[in-house]
Amino acid sequence: RIGQHEDAETLREHPAIREAARMLREGKLVAFPTETVYGLGADARSEEAVSRIFTAKGRPGDNPLIVHIGHVSRLQDLVAELPTKGELLVRRFWPGPLTLVLPHKGTVAPKVTAGLDTVGVRMPSHPVALALLQESGLPVAAPSANRSGRPSPTEAEHVWEDLGGEIDGLLDAGPTGVGLESTVVDVTGSVPLLLRPGGVTLEELRETVGEVRVDPALEGDAHPPRSPGMKYRHYAPKGEMWLVEGSGEALVHRIRELADHARKAGRRVGILTTEENRFRYKADRVVACGRRAEPESVARDLYRALREMDRAGVDYILAETFPAEGLFRPVMNRLYKAAGGRVFRADDQCPKGSSS
Ligand code: TXA
Ligand code: MG
Repeated sequence: RIGQHEDAETLREHPAIREAARMLREGKLVAFPTETVYGLGADARSEEAVSRIFTAKGRPGDNPLIVHIGHVSRLQDLVAELPTKGELLVRRFWPGPLTLVLPHKGTVAPKVTAGLDTVGVRMPSHPVALALLQESGLPVAAPSANRSGRPSPTEAEHVWEDLGGEIDGLLDAGPTGVGLESTVVDVTGSVPLLLRPGGVTLEELRETVGEVRVDPALEGDAHPPRSPGMKYRHYAPKGEMWLVEGSGEALVHRIRELADHARKAGRRVGILTTEENRFRYKADRVVACGRRAEPESVARDLYRALREMDRAGVDYILAETFPAEGLFRPVMNRLYKAAGGRVFRADDQCPKGSSS
C-alpha cells in the first residue's frame, strides 16, 4: 500500500511505482488508483498490451478506452488540435475527473479507440496515478479495473476480487476519493456534448464554457448513446434492483411498504439508503451509502454499497433515489443502470411489478 498524501514528485522515487512503471513499459497490465476509481492500465501505443485489457475485463471490443497522461503537454502527442472550449475545460479541470473526446492523430493503438477517429484523454489528479504516468513516460490506456458488468472498483480489494488472476501488478492506495468515473465530454463540435456524467458536474461545465448539450441517450431517449460504453448494462448487482421515486417521509413509507410486501412473498430484501434513514427500515440487509445531505459522500460510497449488496446475497433490492442535479446526476445515472431501468414511480400502486 502506498501513501496517497505524498506528492507525485516524491512518489516517483517509490520502489513500487518504479516497478509498476517498468511493467507498463514491458507491455504488462498494472491496476492503479485514480481519484475516481481504480484503472487497469497498459501502454496505449501497444496493440498487444491493450488487447490484454479487453481479455482481462471481458470487455466488448467496440468500447474504446480512455488514455491517461501525466502532463498537460503530452496531449499534443495524441491529438491534432485542442479547440478553444476544450482548452478552457483543461485549464479549469485538469488534473481531475474530466475526460475530453478529441480527434486523434493515430499515435495510439487502434484497439484503444475501437476504430473511431476520436480518442478520450484525461489527466488524473491522484498523486499515485500521476507519479506512475510520469515515471513510465507513456500514454496509459485504462478502463475501470472491474470485470465488465460489475461496479467499478473504489478499493484495491475490489480489483483483486474481480481481476486478481488476470493482472501483473496492483498499486494499493486505499479508497479512491470521488468514487464515480470521470465525466466524458465530446469537444469536437461547436457545442460540447456530455457523453457520461461523472465527477465534474454539468453545472460546473456550463459555468466554464456556457452551453453544453447532453447526449439524448442519457435522458432515456431511444437513440444509441454516442459513448459506446454507455449502451451496456453496467454496475449490475446480482439481485433484482428497483429504484423508488419520491422524497422525504413519502419515500421512506413507500420503501417500507414495498419491502414488507416482497418479504411476505419470500424474497430476501436489501435496501439501499443513506445514513439519515438507515435505522428506519427493516429488511434482510440495509446498506447505507453516504449522507443525503452531502452528495459527494453518496458518490464516494455508491459502488462499495452495491458490492455489499452482492455479498449480502439478497435477491431483491429497493433503492432510494435523489434529485438528479450536481453530483446526484451521475449517481442517478449509475443507479438507473444498476436497476436496468426498473423504477417504482411515485404514483404507482404499491406492489405493482414487485414480483416480476
Ligand atoms: O474515471 C474514469 O474515467 C476511469 C478511470 C480509470 O480513469 N476510467 C473509466 O474507463 O471509467 P471506462 O473504460 O470504464 O469508461 C470509458 C468510457 C466508456 O463509456 C467509453 O465508451 C467512453 O469512455 N469513451 C472512451 N473513448 C471514447 C471516444 N473516443 N468517444 C466516445 N466515448 C469514448
Ligand atoms: Mg468502466
